[in-house]
Amino acid sequence: MKTVALVGVQWGDEGKGKIADLLAAQADVVARFQGGNNAAHTVVRDGQKFVLRLVPAGALHPGTVCVIGNGTVVDPFALLGELEALDRRGYPLDRGLLRLSAEAHMVLPYHQEIDRAREARLGRRAIGTTGFGIGPAYEDKMARCGVRFGELVNFAALRRKLERNIEEKNRYLKAVLKAPKTAGDQLIARLRAARPKLLPYLCETGAFMEEARAQGKRILLEGAHGTMLDLDHGTYPFVTSSNCVAGAAFAGGGLAPGSLEAVLGVSKAYATRVGAGPFPTEIKGGLARLLRREGEEFGSATGRPRRVGWFDAPLARYAARLNGLWALALTKLDVLTGINPLRICVAYELKGARLSGLPSPGIALEKVRPLYEELPGWSEKIGEARRLEVLPANARRYVERIAELSGVSLAFVSVGPQPEQTIVLQSPFDS
Ligand code: GDP
Ligand code: IMO
Ligand code: MG
Repeated sequence: MKTVALVGVQWGDEGKGKIADLLAAQADVVARFQGGNNAAHTVVRDGQKFVLRLVPAGALHPGTVCVIGNGTVVDPFALLGELEALDRRGYPLDRGLLRLSAEAHMVLPYHQEIDRAREARLGRRAIGTTGFGIGPAYEDKMARCGVRFGELVNFAALRRKLERNIEEKNRYLKAVLKAPKTAGDQLIARLRAARPKLLPYLCETGAFMEEARAQGKRILLEGAHGTMLDLDHGTYPFVTSSNCVAGAAFAGGGLAPGSLEAVLGVSKAYATRVGAGPFPTEIKGGLARLLRREGEEFGSATGRPRRVGWFDAPLARYAARLNGLWALALTKLDVLTGINPLRICVAYELKGARLSGLPSPGIALEKVRPLYEELPGWSEKIGEARRLEVLPANARRYVERIAELSGVSLAFVSVGPQPEQTIVLQSPFDS
């Protein structure tokens, strides 16, 4: 298979960065197709940790082309900062190796100010966004007043548009959000200064990827966030502002639907969520603290403690259906060492009745009660395992039960953050 997408199955932070990096080693092109720097994908390379926000995991594989597709929203200053940091650490992305869609939208300071002011006003009802302006930037895209990178070419016209936007945003900030004005002149000056650095990356990325595909190159479409954060299919309104399911790879990457050969879903062997919203299998108390500590479950983007819970099979089945999953990459199995017994949610119950899947739309996920199956744990460290056969019998039983309940076969089982700490069962580019 040559064109493969990777998506999160849960609420983000499943370990997509680690798996994307493994696959990127075999890819010619790695592309992001949605989201912005609300994503934080961790890759460990030679013991060093890299947290990639906008640049796809191909960045750590010299020669691999990184594409930031039209479906993304990109903070131009954050992008330049990320590129400089990668350069300083020995991974320069020279011209030709980073291709930024001229149709991708910019996240600008006024988007961030609106995002933060809204969240502050919502108080206890806040969504718990990253505060990076992602929602307001996508709103402007839909409202057709967003700024696309291609507009940098004619800066005089862009300046006029920005002045109009800034005036309107200032009225909104002041009258509705009771927040300070945005620094409009400063934004225009910063963007003018950034312009010569950004222009060389501009590209018609859909056409570029189609050409690569026609030449038989391997393309990895790297999803961000997770299925349960998808704007349509997730736990609305506690979601992000883009579609995160595999279908978004076409509209947001610019490739035709028939080109995608496999979708790999990434899931933790348990579950986590950052921010507010329903989380049926959430664990509280001492066990939650233990899991959070062992799994280092603190947000890579914002440092917030992640909520933790048991593996949720109804959600995995839902994600498998929505994404047409070919297989699963199951991560962080090592974190469960020493926890006994383990639980897997096998179904939900609503008002005393067992559901076959999720409750129908309109019924809040908070209302369901998870029904659990208990499985015995194991106490051995498993970070050195490279084959399923060498795992403790209970660990093996646990992963096999997850695959069975999810209805998806396993491709990878990850037993530590390092790339080599992986049990490879089937790799999409070798299939
Ligand atoms: P992403 O957003 O899906 O790329 O995930 P994040 O990078 O935000 O969070 C996943 C965290 O888990 C990172 O710190 C990874 O280094 C780490 N990680 C990934 N796979 C494993 C694993 O199998 N075991 C352990 N212990 N850590 C892992
Ligand atoms: P990666 O790609 C975890 C969550 C936020 C918040 C909600 C909306 O690293 O898995 P937003 O700033 O997007 O408007 O916030 O979505 N969220 C993520 N949680 N991992 C992510 O990305 C996330 N991206 C957004 O915490 O609850
Ligand atoms: Mg993350």
